[in-house]
Amino acid sequence: MRNKTCVAIDGPAGAGKSTVAKLVARQLGLLYIDTGAMYRAVTLKALREGLDLTDHEQLTALARRTKIELVPGAKQLVLLDGEDVTEEIRSPEVSRHVSLVAKVPGVRAILVEQQRRMASETGVVMDGRDIGTVVLPQADIKIFLTASAEERANRRAKELANKGYTIDIAKLIKEIEERDYIDSHREVSPLVAAADATIIDSSNLSIDEVVKEIIKLIGNP
Ligand code: CDP
Ligand code: CDP
Repeated sequence: MRNKTCVAIDGPAGAGKSTVAKLVARQLGLLYIDTGAMYRAVTLKALREGLDLTDHEQLTALARRTKIELVPGAKQLVLLDGEDVTEEIRSPEVSRHVSLVAKVPGVRAILVEQQRRMASETGVVMDGRDIGTVVLPQADIKIFLTASAEERANRRAKELANKGYTIDIAKLIKEIEERDYIDSHREVSPLVAAADATIIDSSNLSIDEVVKEIIKLIGNP
């Protein structure tokens, strides 16, 4: 029988969600779905088209005419209308604007429907902000992964430095805190731990330790 286990991982930026979700998915033979990549892809297209990011109608119409594909593999590819944007959606420019696009109810409705469809076909590990609360409230196991803002900014700084970006750490902490604030205070699907989620603070945990903890929980949901 195919493994239909459904794992939801939510939490703020840089908590380690995607790193950990990929490893858990690989160990258990589940499909990994990065929902943040979908909001990032819509944001990239909106920036390219020079849309007003406060215009909810235009952003919703844009999401409706956008095709996003997540191609599974060693390095999951993100295709925007057929174009590989895997790297470009992680740029500081997209990170700075994505929360404005993600707070638009019409954009969320369109992407949530696509996410549910993907998860209806197979077992998944899905990460994001509203997976345990809204997208997959029936998930077998829900994790809320967090870490201090400083630790999360340090992790993101290391990543960006490796990609050749110059980092102002104070500015990065401020940007992460601003994004957390918008994500946690928006009207639709704010970032919040589901009542039945297990909270894991990864500030002082290695990636391996977090993965082990989640695998243990899945063994005893
Ligand atoms: O990787 P990082 O944690 O920086 O962000 P991400 O998971 O790629 O998500 C980027 C942004 O998309 C978040 O800051 C949220 O504004 C939005 N998002 C969301 O609203 N709901 C989700 N399920 C996933 C992401
Ligand atoms: O998806 P999210 O924004 O929550 O975080 P991520 O992109 O998976 O992780 C951000 C960075 O933190 C990556 O470079 C990870 O290697 C690192 N990390 C870590 O150093 N320690 C952990 N316990 C988890 C992640």
